[in-house]
Amino acid sequence: MLSNIIPFAHSVLADHIAPGDTVVDATAGNGHDALFLARCVGEGGRVYAFDIQAAALQATQAHLAEAGCGRQAVLVGAGHETLAQHVSGPIAAAVFNCGYLPGGDKRCITTAAATLSGLRQALALLQPQGVVAAVLYPGHAGGDAEAEAVCAWAASLPQQQYAVLRYEFINRTNNPPFLLVIEKRTV
Ligand SMILES: C[S@@+](CC[C@H](N)C(=O)[O-])C[C@H]1O[C@@H](n2cnc3c(N)ncnc32)[C@H](O)[C@@H]1O
Repeated sequence: MLSNIIPFAHSVLADHIAPGDTVVDATAGNGHDALFLARCVGEGGRVYAFDIQAAALQATQAHLAEAGCGRQAVLVGAGHETLAQHVSGPIAAAVFNCGYLPGGDKRCITTAAATLSGLRQALALLQPQGVVAAVLYPGHAGGDAEAEAVCAWAASLPQQQYAVLRYEFINRTNNPPFLLVIEKRTV
């Protein structure tokens, strides 16, 4: 059976992350992606998890602690547009699971400007054969403009340096989410 968007993103990330790596969760939310990344990197690795909402960071901390994976995580209470101020790299992977906090304030959403800024900073820190995954949600107001802007930017990346994949179900209704994966090529 074809994987849904998040499981597919996780399988691609898992293929590119080794124990001991440094990785970024650019939108911590409820901590599901952060826990997945924490398990990939293990106790010898680092997950930098960003969010602008205190509720999200608390949920992420609790989720990681419950699973016994708190030690390898650094929670950053700042937007991913400040990524390079907190992470020095190199990083094996970064994930931007965009939109709003499920169960939280639906008015607090990721924006095209901040997401593009964070994505550019993540690419600059990415090690060769590292990946950046972005899950985009065109189905809510604001999410459509963000998805369009991120796709236009990703499509313009030079193919000699980056491979860019779009994974989506094109016969689903209501503007379903889709995934972009950007892999840095070895030069
Ligand atoms: C869809 S949720 C993330 C889901 C999360 N990765 C998980 O596994 O539960 C999107 C999150 O992005 C956060 N967010 C919005 N703008 C942000 C920004 N500029 N920097 C970092 N996080 C941001 C929201 O607060 C929200 O928690």
